[in-house]
Amino acid sequence: MKPVAESCLRNQQPIADVLRDVLKYMNAVLELGSGTGQHGVYLAERFPHLKWQPSDLKECLPGMRLWWQEAGLNNLCEPIELDVTREHWPVTIAYDAVFTANTVHFVGRSIAEALLMGAAKSLRSEGVVCIYGPFNKNGCYSGEGNRRFDQWLKARDPESGIKDIEWVEEVLGQHGLVLKSRHQMPANNLMLVFN
Ligand SMILES: C[S@@+](CC[C@H](N)C(=O)[O-])C[C@H]1O[C@@H](n2cnc3c(N)ncnc32)[C@H](O)[C@@H]1O
Repeated sequence: MKPVAESCLRNQQPIADVLRDVLKYMNAVLELGSGTGQHGVYLAERFPHLKWQPSDLKECLPGMRLWWQEAGLNNLCEPIELDVTREHWPVTIAYDAVFTANTVHFVGRSIAEALLMGAAKSLRSEGVVCIYGPFNKNGCYSGEGNRRFDQWLKARDPESGIKDIEWVEEVLGQHGLVLKSRHQMPANNLMLVFN
């Protein structure tokens, strides 16, 4: 049976609403930490001009493949194993865009840094990085819900937790990427778009 992330069902439409413009003139998109792979199915279906490549750790591949097979979309590539902490990523083209949802807070700082640096390196020049999830501003939570969520994340993995937008800007800034737009999303999430 296909794994279902309830959060994806809630946020896929608002994410598509933002990406419709951001990815309008893009083609090849690499998704990192795809989880169940639902975002790829939803977005590839709505945006046929995109060629969407989902990826995640090995243990997520069986579930993602179920979604991929059922969707049967020409523009949705077979999910690949991609551990962002590996030095060499199985990436053979320069992508127009890298998308990731709900990953940066979910992992520790060093993994998040590897994800962001790898994303930047996987892009063609003028490519965009789109990051969806909860973020803090200068160490401040954007709401009580995010403060409680952060406590829950840290109880599960003390290394993980909601990161500052400024920290993400600093990491991606080392690769010449600048925060171009910041979109308020439901439930105190943001979509950060860098290029
Ligand atoms: C909270 S889930 C988000 C999944 C999906 N993007 C979503 O929005 O539903 C975080 C994802 O990060 C992935 N992840 C954790 N460590 C990773 C790593 N080192 N490399 C790649 N993905 C990783 C997990 O396997 C998981 O699928």
